[in-house]
Amino acid sequence: MKLVLSLFALAVGAFGQVTYTRDVSRVFQAKCQQCHREGDIAPFALDSYEAAMTWAEDIQRAVEERRMPPWKPVDGHGEFQHNFGLSAEERDLILNWYRGGAEEGDPRDLPEPLPVTGEFRLGDPDVVLTMPQSYSLKRRGDTYRCFVIPTDFGSDRFIDAFQVVPGNRQVVHHVILYLDTSGKARQMDGQDGEPGYDCFGGPGDGIPLTLSSMAGGWVPGMATNRFPEGVGTLLPKGVDIIMQIHYYPGGRTNQEDQTKVGMYFAQGEVSKRLVYLPILNTTFRIPAGAENHEVTATFPIPPLFDATAYLVAPHMHLLGRQFKLEKIRPNGRVEPLIFIDNWDFNWQGFYQYQQPVRLNAFDRVRATCTFDNSEKNPRNPSNPLKIVRWGEGTEDEMCIGFLGVTFDRENFVPFNQPL
Ligand code: HEC
Repeated sequence: MKLVLSLFALAVGAFGQVTYTRDVSRVFQAKCQQCHREGDIAPFALDSYEAAMTWAEDIQRAVEERRMPPWKPVDGHGEFQHNFGLSAEERDLILNWYRGGAEEGDPRDLPEPLPVTGEFRLGDPDVVLTMPQSYSLKRRGDTYRCFVIPTDFGSDRFIDAFQVVPGNRQVVHHVILYLDTSGKARQMDGQDGEPGYDCFGGPGDGIPLTLSSMAGGWVPGMATNRFPEGVGTLLPKGVDIIMQIHYYPGGRTNQEDQTKVGMYFAQGEVSKRLVYLPILNTTFRIPAGAENHEVTATFPIPPLFDATAYLVAPHMHLLGRQFKLEKIRPNGRVEPLIFIDNWDFNWQGFYQYQQPVRLNAFDRVRATCTFDNSEKNPRNPSNPLKIVRWGEGTEDEMCIGFLGVTFDRENFVPFNQPL
């Protein structure tokens, strides 16, 4: 082993030693600093040689075991914008740097630090909606809470982008925005004496889920894009925005948060509404103890409902292990839409396709969710183990692939029907 290592060091030496200043710092800028910067969600900044050295062993392990960076989609199953996964070369570079002695290198090789961006990456939003009150976290562990933000735009409005700005970056782990026109969320708001209400796998019990009741999601590290021209998400007049926040205090106490979201109104005429088509199965039953239980859902695109998919958001809870979404053409050909082989409820992304995906009438979309309901699953919330079915709670499960789509012929779509 030693010999192999020293041969390796020689080989690297021949091409120049991998150094922090010339090589590794650049990978950290591109793939780590979205989160590993001062005051953000990651527990430490990775912006100096000292920091890299302090954490070198953990970095080596996290990269080796593919825990970091937390980019979930497996390469080759759909291509996504702003992929912050490591390429094979970047991975090798970090690992070789560590094995080669974690050299600093010449300080003159350092890249310019990343520019400090303003709060909103797309510039000033048209409207900023803020949680009406700040929320103090009572628990040191994960907390899931829905906050209700009323709107008053005077008419229906379309947005083509939004950006969440966490009030407290150290604890806000993910945010999903739902839309409620039923008034139910308002009724639940504050019932337990605190702002908002508890919710876990959705907008809360009793809030109708329709094609147009989701507005999108945000996780740390995610970039914000505008939709293509003519595409927008409808915010009906007077709609309440439900901001579902997953707080991850990681043991920190006395945390306060007041998160906000900047909305960008679509410029020009919107001819296509972006809605979230859920490919789901609500009738499954996961036996207690099952380690590898597969649940599938198939959705045939009906005649006249040809669509274009811009993004995809898989959704399962704590028993989820793997998630796969595929398009099956009428001739049987299977095209991958996304594959996550190491599901983590904490990193639920909304992934935007590099190229929009066509879904033609008679294509079928198939979701395959794999669950681990055994005691080997460290995240299993049930003790003793039990049969698990569909539901909103932490101990229930879901199997959904949300596809953010527009329909070619919108007037056929029964937008206001509950699912
Ligand atoms: C999208 C945000 C994000 C990105 C990008 C990211 N990290 Fe992290 N990292 C975190 C968070 C949050 C934690 C805290 C523990 C957790 O949630 O898993 C963490 C923890 C760590 C840890 C310590 C805990 C462990 O798992 O060993 C290391 C080391 C680490 N990250 C290295 C990296 C490196 C190296 C990169 C880039 C190649 C990177 N991270 C990219 C968010 C991120």
